[in-house]
Amino acid sequence: MILPIYLYGNPVLRKLAQPIDKDYPKLTQLIDDMYETMYRSEDGVGLAAPQVGISIRLFVIDLSTLDTDKYPEYKDWKKTFINPEITERFGEVISYDEGCLSLPGLSETVRRHNSVRIKYLDENFTEHEEEFSGFSARVIQHEYDHLEGHMYIDHISPIRRQMIKGKLNSIAKGKVNCKYKYRAA
Ligand code: NI
Repeated sequence: MILPIYLYGNPVLRKLAQPIDKDYPKLTQLIDDMYETMYRSEDGVGLAAPQVGISIRLFVIDLSTLDTDKYPEYKDWKKTFINPEITERFGEVISYDEGCLSLPGLSETVRRHNSVRIKYLDENFTEHEEEFSGFSARVIQHEYDHLEGHMYIDHISPIRRQMIKGKLNSIAKGKVNCKYKYRAA
């Protein structure tokens, strides 16, 4: 089922998301729906539960849809993260353009560490602790931010933030032009 994507301005995106346990109702269905919603949006590679209005510590990432000539290492890279905890951010700080399905029509350069170490449960509640570097580490940090009630625009300079204020206000009012189902504030 395609779920509406909650846009910037909706308070659910600013809440600290809560951990879940195995008994969380209809979890498998929710994870399936999140992937389907993300694929249908056409330009998302990651989606966090707060973006579909559910304030729990869950996000999904699928990098296998990227251009395999450019990113051969992500050919089969599809992962579900439950109750994740980033324990370390390290390596070079890199500037790169980011977008977000909750901020349609916007993209900004964000500085992030090139590598992370993260503990998480997969969709079977199997525990993992792994390190990721490069694009995967960037997407993980972006999605993880959503669980903390943060968005990528929180990382940009105040001047830049001021420059896009009008666009942000329009998004918060639901005045957007996007092809997927959405819910504004
Ligand atoms: Ni996002």
